[in-house]
Amino acid sequence: MNPSADVLALSTTEVDISQIAVGQAITVKWRGTPVFVKHRTEEEIKEAEDVNLADLRDPQPDSARVIEPQWLVVVGICTHLGCVPLGTKPGDQKGDFGGWFCPCHGSHYDTSGRIRRGPAPENLVVPPYAFVDDTSIQIG
Ligand code: FES
Repeated sequence: MNPSADVLALSTTEVDISQIAVGQAITVKWRGTPVFVKHRTEEEIKEAEDVNLADLRDPQPDSARVIEPQWLVVVGICTHLGCVPLGTKPGDQKGDFGGWFCPCHGSHYDTSGRIRRGPAPENLVVPPYAFVDDTSIQIG
């Protein structure tokens, strides 16, 4: 038995990324869970790519976490105790590594959403997603 179209639609979220300026991020809901979609700057991409993997708690190259380097898509749930980290809204703290900061117990994530400092054990999760076209992605 295959799931019906309306059930499939509930499990995916299509996101229009055409209005997200370079350097901005938005939060969307996917299966009731926040997902951050970030349009990274050249500098943020370079920072993410230049990290020495030996310095990472959960070593993953940036290239394994993105489809297009300018777009980072991660589940917005801290891998420590499940808070939603700051760093997506304008003016938010982004932590010491320029990505996201979870003030709950001080977890810092970098511009690839990888854990760099604090108690969280793992990187922010990259959900399954695909580009529908140049201006939209489908998560799920
Ligand atoms: Fe994020 Fe505790 S839930 S640091």
